[in-house]
Amino acid sequence: MKDLDWSNLGFGYRKTDYNVRCYYRDGKWGEIEVCSSEYVNLHMAATCLHYGQEAFEGLKAFRCPDGKVRVFRMDENAARLQSTCRGIMMPEVSTELFEEMVAKVVRLNQEYIPTYESGASLYIRPLLIGTSAQVGVHPATEYVFIIFVTPVGPYFKGGFSTNPYVIVREYDRSAPLGTGKYKVGGNYAASMQANHLAHEKGYACEFYLDAKEKKYMDECGAANFFGIKNNTYVTPKSTSILPSITNKSLMQLAEDFGLKVERRPIPEEELETFEEAGACGTAAVISPISYIDDLDTGKRYTFSKDGKPGPISHKLYTHLRNIQYGIEPDTHGWTKVIID
Ligand code: PLP
Ligand code: COI
Repeated sequence: MKDLDWSNLGFGYRKTDYNVRCYYRDGKWGEIEVCSSEYVNLHMAATCLHYGQEAFEGLKAFRCPDGKVRVFRMDENAARLQSTCRGIMMPEVSTELFEEMVAKVVRLNQEYIPTYESGASLYIRPLLIGTSAQVGVHPATEYVFIIFVTPVGPYFKGGFSTNPYVIVREYDRSAPLGTGKYKVGGNYAASMQANHLAHEKGYACEFYLDAKEKKYMDECGAANFFGIKNNTYVTPKSTSILPSITNKSLMQLAEDFGLKVERRPIPEEELETFEEAGACGTAAVISPISYIDDLDTGKRYTFSKDGKPGPISHKLYTHLRNIQYGIEPDTHGWTKVIID
């Protein structure tokens, strides 16, 4: 294993030894190639550069206490990428090709998978881009699908500890019938100003309201939202948010624990009634929320008075992590052993 200080890793890019690539030409995907260059040689008129024909994914591999390396729900990431491909007219990557490339890139870079004790993990970043030239707005005819990996620590400060968030009404991340439900780079470009503003004001991340009515909670720039009250896990139903695989898993775990689960529009004022709230995602895992400010109305919604995560968030977090690390039985078949 590489001699790195795994326990002080932030969420950033660190070079590893290999990435894997597969090219789409003449209407079909080619063979998987192993590559040690971090660079991509691109045509200057490639559709990914001009018209945002770009999709990405994010998943993680975990070095577990039993010595195995497990990947969490990669079939779900493959399915979401396929949905994104349909959304912006790119050729779909089959689940089989996706999983084979994930397994290969993790095995090739196994020296970079952080220790269990560090709490860090190996972030896997699949990327699909249109590479052939177009000047008119049309889909490319050629694509490359690349997967690289990088060891990461927590996305939000402190990992599983509370942070303040802020609703930014003067920005929209995505439109109701737009690309919010797809994992395309344009959504993240649209979030940069608001994200910068939130950070400048000392918040962990920005929250968006639905773009049409500016009434309902959508999500953050890089994670979904959930609230807990009356033994119920409540999370937004919206056409403009990313269908989070972490959120889907937490809904299932909440149900397993006997909580009620509601996926429905959440009016901003309802925030007052939640006993706990969190942001969830692959990078964020669960980031418990201390409070959310609405700068325009001056309202503050507080979820943690003592600055600690709430008990249900804690339970959800512990079980999710225990499944990811192979500590608890994986009754839903969410993990796949990549290295035995
Ligand atoms: N929402 C956005 C905008 C994201 O970028 C992410 C991260 O992937 C999520 C939600 C969480 O999704 P997942 O749990 O599948 O990582
Ligand atoms: C993830 O959680 O995997 C994300 O993609 C979030 C962010 C780093 C864009």
